[in-house]
Order: sequence, then C-alpha cells, then structure tokens
Amino acid sequence: NNKLTLGIFGFGVVGQGLHDIIKTKNLNLAIKRFVIKHPEKKRTLPAELFTTDANAVLDDPEINTVVELIDDAEAAFDIVSSALRSGKNVVSANKKMIATHLADLIAIQQEYGTSLLYEGAVCGSIPIIRNLEEYYDNELLHAVTGIFNGSSNYILSKIFNENLAYATALKQAQDLGFAETDPTLDVGGYDPKFKLAIVASHAYGLYIAPEAILNIGIDKLSASDIQFAKEKNFKIKLVPTAREINDKSVILYVLPKLIPRDNILYGVENEYNGVLVKAAFADEQFFYGKGAGGHPTGSAVLSDIAALRYGYKYEYKKHIDANGLAYSTDWEIEV
Ligand code: HSE
Repeated sequence: NNKLTLGIFGFGVVGQGLHDIIKTKNLNLAIKRFVIKHPEKKRTLPAELFTTDANAVLDDPEINTVVELIDDAEAAFDIVSSALRSGKNVVSANKKMIATHLADLIAIQQEYGTSLLYEGAVCGSIPIIRNLEEYYDNELLHAVTGIFNGSSNYILSKIFNENLAYATALKQAQDLGFAETDPTLDVGGYDPKFKLAIVASHAYGLYIAPEAILNIGIDKLSASDIQFAKEKNFKIKLVPTAREINDKSVILYVLPKLIPRDNILYGVENEYNGVLVKAAFADEQFFYGKGAGGHPTGSAVLSDIAALRYGYKYEYKKHIDANGLAYSTDWEIEV
C-alpha cells in the first residue's frame, strides 16, 4: 500500500494552490493536517484540518509524507530535518533553506534512507532539477543561466511593455501572489541567487554558500538605465548565471543584463521563467514555463509528492560517488 498521508506546513499561496490541484485529482493520497502560524486567519477549509503544533504532524506515525511550504528558512530546516530523521519523506519549496543546508540535507537523506524533493523551489513549474540529473552521465555543462525570478521579470515586463511605474508593477506582482512575503528577496536578487545555488549544485556537484554569490537586483536600476535600454531596443532581464570559466572553475552571479532581440530570454515575459543549459555535446537547451504563482508552483510540488510514491530520490551523482562517499570535485567556485 503506497498511500501517501500528508502533513503540510504552510497554507499560503503555494499551499492553497497545491490544495486546489489535489482536489481535482484522484490520487491515492490524503491531506491529514496543515500546520499554520496564524490560527486567527479565516480559512477556506474546515478548522479541524489546521493546527499550530508542528509535533501534531512530526509525531504522527500515520503521516508518511511532509510538505514544507513556509517562509522561514531556519524553521523550515528544523522541520525538514526532523521529518527526514523520523522516516518521513519530504517535499519542500523553500529555496533559501535548501540552498543554505544542502550538504546536511544530503547527509541526512543518506543516513536515514529518506527522500527530499524540491522541484517547486526552483523556477516554479519548470522541472529543472530532474532534468539536470539527466545530464550526469552524458554531458559537460558549460553554463546554466536564464530567468529564475517571476516577480522581477513581471515588473520588468510591465515597465518595458506597458510603461508602468516600478512601484505599481511591484504591487501587482505582490497582489498576484508572485512575490515573496519580503519582496526585497525578489527585487534584490536574493531569491534567484538561492535558486542559482541549487541549480549550480546539481549541475556541478558543488556545495555553494549563497553568501558567496554576487547578487545585484532590479531595485538597483535607475530611470536612465531603463531609458537607455529602451532607446537601444534592448530589454533588461535579471539573469543568474553559473558558467564554467576553465576546466576547474565555475563563476556564479546574479545581474540585471541588457538583452538584445535575438536572445532567447528576450521573449520571456511576465511571471515566466526560462532556464538555458549550454552543454558540450547537446549544445543549447531551453526550459520555459511559469516561474511563480500558486498553481504553477503547486503543480511542481504535487509532481514531487506523486514521485515519492514510486520511491523517487535525487541521485546526487555529482556529489556522492558509487560507494556513498562525498565526491571529490575539482570544481572551484569563483565569484
Ligand atoms: N517569489 C518567487 C518569484 C516565487 O517571484 O519567482 C517563485 O519561487
């Protein structure tokens, strides 16, 4: 019996999106409990589904799968690591938590034989983590780059295509559920930096402290930067990049860039994301889809939940050798 009984932490944009999607599906799974922080908020579901007590999920032997969809990265790490240690599989969409604690999370999964999946943490609906695993045996990745933050891209699209003011466009991105609770994480380039650290880790087998990566966000753009780009028929996009600079070093950064019309990122608009993989033999591959919002992200989270039924685990082939030992990589990180 591979029935999944879920305990879900968080009932925000993604938690509600996930619930909407689960309702439409006939999957062999049940949501037993949501753990929430604000019991006073009015909820759309019966009160008995909600608790403020994390242990009501973590100590419940019937709950075999924990879904972590909260903001606070350190609280999330405590929840996720306790769940993995108590034999529960976990799905998380918390990019900061994963980027910051990946080495520990891999070690815990190995020790306890449990699985942590986090496709929803990186570029919303785009299944990029699983696809990066597809390159392990056959490719050398020269670079992984693209657009990883839906809110910044939405704001830039509104500024470039509709002449909207920055503050108006940001407010819309918040109202539509694209932005983080603290939107500085989006417009300051932190959110795409966490995603870049996760992507680069899967591409190169590196553990990368997010603090080591340079991030400049769209909040640093001036009116004259925008005007210059428009006059020259460029767009500006916020572009995270991990790029091999020689056969032993990778450089990582998040920067606003001038994008000409013939660049594939030029047509990525609004809350859409794109991931461009430059590989030695396959050449360029481009993954495109909605990068933010409750339903696109909820869809990625549900695909992870469903994958757990079949025992899916990330292989971390680039991090771990066949004997289960830490893989000694030659890659060095430059910033
Ligand atoms: N705030 C994020 C974004 C949500 O705008 O891309 C999806 O991770």
